[in-house]
Amino acid sequence: MFSLDSKIKDVLNNPVGYDLFFSLLNEMQIANYYDTIFNPVVQQLKLKSLVRIPSIDHTILETLCLKMNHYSNEKLEAATGKVNKIWWKEAIVYQIYPRSFKDSNGDGIGDLKGIIQKLDYIKDLGVDVIWLSPIYDSPNDDNGYDIRNYKKILSEFGTMDEFDYLLNLVHEKGLKLIMDLVINHTSDEHQWFKLSRLNDETYQDYYIWRDKPNNWKSMFGGSAWKYDESREAYYLHIFSQKQPDLNWDNPDLRKEIYEMVNWWLDKGIDGFRLDVINFLSKEDNYPNGNEALGKMTDLTGVEHYMYGPRIHEYLQELNENTFGKYDVMTVGECPGIGLELSKFFTHQDRNELNMVFNFDHLYSNGRDKWLQKDYDIEFLKNSMFKYQNTSSPYWQTIFINNHDTPRMLGKLLRNNKHQAALAKMLCIMNLSIRGTPFIYQGQEIGMSNPEFKHISQFRDIETLNKYKELKEEGKSEDEIICILNHGSRDNARLPFSWSTKRNAGFSTHTPWIKNSDDYLEINVEKQLLDNDSVLNFYKRMINFRKEHPILIYGKTVPVKSNVKGMMSYERQLGKEQYLIVINLEEKTKDINLSMKNYEMLISSYKVSNVLYKPYEARIYRLVNK
Ligand code: GLC
Ligand code: CA
Repeated sequence: MFSLDSKIKDVLNNPVGYDLFFSLLNEMQIANYYDTIFNPVVQQLKLKSLVRIPSIDHTILETLCLKMNHYSNEKLEAATGKVNKIWWKEAIVYQIYPRSFKDSNGDGIGDLKGIIQKLDYIKDLGVDVIWLSPIYDSPNDDNGYDIRNYKKILSEFGTMDEFDYLLNLVHEKGLKLIMDLVINHTSDEHQWFKLSRLNDETYQDYYIWRDKPNNWKSMFGGSAWKYDESREAYYLHIFSQKQPDLNWDNPDLRKEIYEMVNWWLDKGIDGFRLDVINFLSKEDNYPNGNEALGKMTDLTGVEHYMYGPRIHEYLQELNENTFGKYDVMTVGECPGIGLELSKFFTHQDRNELNMVFNFDHLYSNGRDKWLQKDYDIEFLKNSMFKYQNTSSPYWQTIFINNHDTPRMLGKLLRNNKHQAALAKMLCIMNLSIRGTPFIYQGQEIGMSNPEFKHISQFRDIETLNKYKELKEEGKSEDEIICILNHGSRDNARLPFSWSTKRNAGFSTHTPWIKNSDDYLEINVEKQLLDNDSVLNFYKRMINFRKEHPILIYGKTVPVKSNVKGMMSYERQLGKEQYLIVINLEEKTKDINLSMKNYEMLISSYKVSNVLYKPYEARIYRLVNK
């Protein structure tokens, strides 16, 4: 049993302890305590000695112990280092945010026909799998992550016939397609919720109803509970008020979900990206969240559903009843889950998920997404290296962008002159380290973040709620817009820049959200004509990865990882050895690594000399002596 008298060493040996502990450090913006924590003297300290750190109090540590005591018995078989070959480890995934990809009918909103029109573009890129963010029928409170009908396509996007046509075409071209699966919650306009609200006999327990709310906070601000007049009770919504959480403790609900999942699998889709899948199981009786932790995270209660008591039971059951029977890939979105707990979700013998997304690398200035102004590239490097520690029998995802976070390129860029160089460097990093690479639309042409000047330019519900909250705190308009620019998910949701035409060639109509500021310079049309463009570099690098399986299956060994301003790692497979060297800085410089016996295979610059140019990245091969 863990208590405040437990030693730090023992806490770190427990997977829950390890992950929560590092979450805490990251939350407090003391990620650089990593090394200190593994110091042998510190390891002998008792947990309670940590109360000397401001903002950690004994209640937080007691919560930590409680969580560890719940799960401390599970053991995983040790890593063997052996890697099974399987297609989804070799695949490169391309994420489409349908609303912003391509509008075919001039209403300013991307759609399925638009994706169909651009399928050859995707095929030419060389990627293997397309992941579609939600396209289901939805009132769009959270851009489709609030589903009204799982078996219908959002009418703005098209029809089920068009979807079937798209799927067919994708397969004809030798590509695969995975869908977003949002089963932690539905829309409040879903038929199940409408009936649940009326206390219907069948549906009354499909959602989470209580007579009194607890202190849990919603991810999108405010209480996580909303009073419903018709049922005269409160329902839980971890996200927006229009996204009530489903009650996974109800076996009837689970069965109905499995039926729906199988319905999609029987259509022939190739897998799922599972939305906030680690939130499914909530702590029994919905206890209040720890206040101190709530203050720190702004998410009171998160400890009671981020890794709930029956999460693995539910995932195993889901797997067994649905995708486990098909040759498909699954990737779980797992906010808050660290590297140790990830193993429990992805161990090949546990039959849960193939891979998960961890988010540790996205926030270098603590966990607060609104405070990521000067994102630190060293943090990205260290996070990538940490991900490499969880190799076989587990498998990683490698991504730097998605629809929920400002683009990494924009977070790192200090001088626009180097935008293309930085984009190519991130391409090499994304595609040469171990793990299945995910590329988010627009990343392959080096799209960056825009400047939002006025609140009327934002669309995202999380951003709009944050605006209200900051207003209430008394912040000035300018200050607020600045904060929103740094954290808003809208950064990544702008229309895809296809050409120099009006609205970036995305639509003939004013788009649903503003265009990129720089689409006249940065767009597909221009880059296709330029052999040295970011787009053509992506194509070369994607191809390069395919032709060199060592980049897929090879072991990663960091080189001189303590030296700042550079990132270097070996990949090793059998007798083969590659060396990747990256200049993380915006200046030309000497990187002191001996290149004896190495030949250069690819560089992010047309011409490479002894000195590394700004953000230059190269891949070398060890030549047989
Ligand atoms: C995931 C999605 C995000 C959405 C949330 C609620 O984090 O990626 O866009 O708002 O889940 O469904
Ligand atoms: Ca349209």
